[in-house]
Amino acid sequence: MSKTLKKTSGLSTDKNWWRQAAIYQIYPRSFADSNGDGIGDIKGITSRIPYLKSLAIDAVWLSPFYPSALADGGYDVDDYRNVDPKLGTLADFDEMLAGLHKEGIRVFVDIVPNHSSNLHEWFKEAIDAKPGSKARDRYVFRDGKGVNGELPPSDWVSHFAPSSWTHESTFGGKGGQWFLHWFAPEQPDFNWENREVQKDFLKTLKFWSDRGVDGFRIDVAHGLAKDLSEPFRSMPVHEGLEQRGNKGKGIWGDRNEVFAIYKEWRKVFNQYDPPRVAVAEAYVHPERLPLYASTKTLGQCFDFRFIETPFEAGAYKAATQEAIDLAQKNKSSCTWTLSNHDQIRHATKMGLNPAVERRDWMLSNGTSHPLDMKSGTQNALAATLYILGLPGSTYMYQGEELGLHEVTDIPEKDIQDPQYLRNLKVDKGRDGCRVPLPWTKTGSSFGFGTGGAHLPQPKWFADYSVEVEEKDPSSPLSIYRTALALRKELQSKEVIKWHKTKDISVLHYSRPNGWHCITNFRGHAYPMPKGEILLASSPLVNGRITAGTTVWFWKK
Ligand code: NOJ
Ligand code: CA
Repeated sequence: MSKTLKKTSGLSTDKNWWRQAAIYQIYPRSFADSNGDGIGDIKGITSRIPYLKSLAIDAVWLSPFYPSALADGGYDVDDYRNVDPKLGTLADFDEMLAGLHKEGIRVFVDIVPNHSSNLHEWFKEAIDAKPGSKARDRYVFRDGKGVNGELPPSDWVSHFAPSSWTHESTFGGKGGQWFLHWFAPEQPDFNWENREVQKDFLKTLKFWSDRGVDGFRIDVAHGLAKDLSEPFRSMPVHEGLEQRGNKGKGIWGDRNEVFAIYKEWRKVFNQYDPPRVAVAEAYVHPERLPLYASTKTLGQCFDFRFIETPFEAGAYKAATQEAIDLAQKNKSSCTWTLSNHDQIRHATKMGLNPAVERRDWMLSNGTSHPLDMKSGTQNALAATLYILGLPGSTYMYQGEELGLHEVTDIPEKDIQDPQYLRNLKVDKGRDGCRVPLPWTKTGSSFGFGTGGAHLPQPKWFADYSVEVEEKDPSSPLSIYRTALALRKELQSKEVIKWHKTKDISVLHYSRPNGWHCITNFRGHAYPMPKGEILLASSPLVNGRITAGTTVWFWKK
């Protein structure tokens, strides 16, 4: 297959397109269902290309659509170079890709290199093979401790299950060993010192690049290299995904050896024209982000700081400046994100009293404290315009353009997320942000498909549907559309200048071309500065910007 993009594409020729792009994350099983089986699919995405075009985005990022038993929403991959038959075929994928490219929308796919699923042919082979075999070396199999090897090889704690070691007999193995998994037991970790593993991922990157895929989102990018030297070091409590502060020498996560892997990947990316791009999901100390965002490695790295930054001027200003300084230091571009498929929807966070412990609130099905849905959506829109004005790329999550809230009352019997199923009564999990999208006000599953939805949708989805919001020029959808289209025209050099305000709850910055952005977080109504108003996230009242509002304006 040709290594240059096919000529049918309506894509720009700018090699730096990714530096200031707007990328929309699609969670395929919950986006649009074309055949009425309750599960979103590839043809569903293709059918919604006009909608994606109407958002004026530069790219979509598709969460995994590969064959999977869905032990972790598709992040348990059976086959990296195929499409799950429940979601379609490779031909459907090609059709979708061509359709998106024709409309000038690029495509990122998700690469999950830390672990496969237990149904991957290599893991099945490993389970059937003998200890010490070549097949077992692709994963991390070890003898247990105790007189008969009945205890796990180390005290390492997994992100989902209590231990990060599972006895192979769970999956029918007869070698008496344990295997490592940082996530669920159905997600066995690869041994990244194994050359076959390394080569297979190069093959996967080429496979999708040859099909015309433009970029890759790298799952748990900081996790691949591990300290497997024995005796194993101790980690009796889960130290978070990042093992922050270990300066590249932790047991797991953000070890220096990981960059050799990405340097090899970079050689593959650069064989294409334009070079393929990648964005790392790396929960690491901010100081370490540049190592992943280097143009010698992955090129870009998610900066998750706004996911946890309270909607408050001081915190937003500090977070913004730190991120910009970091990007400049590394000559990469900033990445902004408020939501993704692992997080409580940001409209909900911003409609709750900030003092509320959100985990407990979720466990109470959202009943222990009131949620102000209206102000949550309003603040969320203000936050979106704030970050869309900043230099760098913005990664958005499907449904945030509708101002959607978290679904907090999914009945226990319907819950799919291992984060809940394995942490029963401690963590409600992430299904609440993965409920299929509402397209219409009425009808089966609000227009998601004709045969229901794989997670139950609440009644209030009707008012947040695309159909309703399209008719309302002040809806979140209308404002996202206008903002994203304007952003393309207004884009400027990757710097900002801060302007003084008379209220500590108000932030004002501008870009070199005269594009200004002012946000009133929680202050009194604030007089609108002089300039031509381009867009406001909420209407001005008597010429004043009220709390929870961002205004873009033009002033030379
Ligand atoms: C991060 C993904 O975003 C999340 O959904 C998944 O559970 C873990 N990585 C494991 O793959
Ligand atoms: Ca379907």
